[in-house]
Amino acid sequence: MKRIAVFTSGGDAPGMNACIRAVVRGAVYHGIEVFGIRRGYNGMISGDIFQMTSHSVSNIVQRGGTILKSARSKEFMTPEGRAKAYEQLKKFDIEGLVAIGGNGTFTGATLFFDEFGIPTVGAPGTIDNDLYGTDYTIGFDTAVNTALEAIDKIRDTADSHDRIFFIEVMGRDSGYIAIQSGIAGGAEMVMVPEVLTPIPEVIEILKSGWSRQKSSSIVVIAEGEEAGNASDIAEKIRQQVQPDIDMRVTTLGHIQRGGVPTAYDRILASRLGLGAMEGLMNGEQNVMAGIVNNELVYTPFRDTIRLPKPISEDLLRMVKILSV
Ligand code: F6P
Repeated sequence: MKRIAVFTSGGDAPGMNACIRAVVRGAVYHGIEVFGIRRGYNGMISGDIFQMTSHSVSNIVQRGGTILKSARSKEFMTPEGRAKAYEQLKKFDIEGLVAIGGNGTFTGATLFFDEFGIPTVGAPGTIDNDLYGTDYTIGFDTAVNTALEAIDKIRDTADSHDRIFFIEVMGRDSGYIAIQSGIAGGAEMVMVPEVLTPIPEVIEILKSGWSRQKSSSIVVIAEGEEAGNASDIAEKIRQQVQPDIDMRVTTLGHIQRGGVPTAYDRILASRLGLGAMEGLMNGEQNVMAGIVNNELVYTPFRDTIRLPKPISEDLLRMVKILSV
């Protein structure tokens, strides 16, 4: 393989820049020409492609966001869009791709390979940590720490005013950010989409806290929780307990997607970026580079897309035990 391209796609995640850097520097080290594609599949379709050198990735290892920008491309989901993208890659003689993103990105790459035979190796970049085939995804650790910092601050004011706070964290279909930030932040309860939590159970936990003179409580809720968003859940609870209970809702939102990546995310991103690039060079195709039990592994896209990554029920059990 003589010429490859790298792009970031889907929701951005802190550490994507460290990953781009590893792909580019790895390619330079191995004597492979490397191109950057801006704005994910949209840039592939419009031909927003440029040659990168070792210098193009100087001074980015510590930066959040992605210097290549990102997008969720609707056009690439159409056969016409993919045909346009193929024509652009042909112009640059690009033989293989490194895609930094999540399941949507890998679904697009699989279709693209089936139609045009361009191989892709993926690096898991999403704060949600919802990809099978890697213990952690790039950006997850930073997002958890950002959420935790917010939870700690909210705990101060919750305690001063004897309030219950419902804090919604990101995670479209996944409770990983919720469970980890909830445990680290000492939450009374964590609600995740993977496991049904009946509202009466939440009320039970809160009431038993009050009966033990707990003056404030924190409930962390993942965005994708089936019972609804944090405001819906707070309202349901308000209707079923004394209406004068003092409750507040905070939705942390996109603050979790930005910021300086943690050391953990930078190292993970560097390993996965180099692993993806070297995998592509060695003939891997349509697989995602991941780290499982501290080893680099490649998992077929069809498995990362299809297989669930279950959340540990032990952790959920622990939240309940530790909130007594
Ligand atoms: O990238 C994952 C994620 O942050 C999810 O947690 C969230 O549901 C979604 O992206 C938000 O996407 P957007 O930035 O497009 O609104």
